Amino acid sequence: MVLLEAKNVAKSYGGLKVLTDLNFHVNSGEIVGVIGPNGAGKTTFMNLVSCLSPITSGTITYKGIRLNDKKPHEIAKLGIARTFQVVKPFGGLSVLENVMVGAFYGKRNLKSKAEARDAAEEAISIVGLLDVKDKDPRILPLAKRKKLEVARALAMKPDLLLLDEVMAGLSMKELEDITEEILKLKQKGITMLVIEHVMKAIMKISDRILVLHLGQKIFEGTPKEVVEEPAVIQAYLGAKFAEKGK
Ligand SMILES: Nc1ncnc2c1ncn2[C@@H]1O[C@H](COP(=O)(O)OP(=O)(O)OP(=O)(O)O)[C@@H](O)[C@H]1O
Ligand SMILES: [Mg+2]
Repeated sequence: MVLLEAKNVAKSYGGLKVLTDLNFHVNSGEIVGVIGPNGAGKTTFMNLVSCLSPITSGTITYKGIRLNDKKPHEIAKLGIARTFQVVKPFGGLSVLENVMVGAFYGKRNLKSKAEARDAAEEAISIVGLLDVKDKDPRILPLAKRKKLEVARALAMKPDLLLLDEVMAGLSMKELEDITEEILKLKQKGITMLVIEHVMKAIMKISDRILVLHLGQKIFEGTPKEVVEEPAVIQAYLGAKFAEKGK
């Protein structure tokens, strides 16, 4: 079943065309990777899905509902949660309180702080931040603040989770852990759209990969098809990657 669908989507900032005529869908239960060079329009697409920024033309639908004119809090209630490439913790709130905000904001319709605390602790435990749950996130290293982004989104109990470069700056061990966690979330039925430059991880977790370049879809296919596609090698992966893959 198609969960998210983009039809002829375009986004411009004044005269600058950032996305052009994007047609694309995500099926329920899939992990779809989004790759492409810096400035390709990956985060912009995520901003359109989460209604942080208005679409210029085209339509985005989720569960058949048109998202174009929705507000971000309405998107959250519909079951879409996201992380931010530039992490955005609420300073002055602890890690736990940050994640509780997500629990209240999302799909759960919580009645009390105790319920939010339980939901937040579950999400914090999934990403492995229990040991710092009472700390101010501003003192945490970037890798942990990235995990906090994931926990806050997870606490919203999403059906569709949008992850924007949550693996940047992680160690090899942390990368392995987060890819395992992402695959477990898939088992639980969460559909994911994952923007990532870490090719090893995106290859491992994705059912399909969308490749953007200069605001356009240049290819869409399985991880194996993507790394063998000359247009993707030329625009993004580079010849060295193609040689290594052989
Ligand atoms: N608010 C904005 N106003 C003007 N231009 C913008 C704005 N946001 C993004 N852009 C431009 O849109 C283009 C796409 O940006 P976007 O952040 O979507 O790229 P990206 O694919 O996520 O890149 P990266 O891999 O570096 O995160 C870039 O040229 C960027 O400068
Ligand atoms: Mg980006």
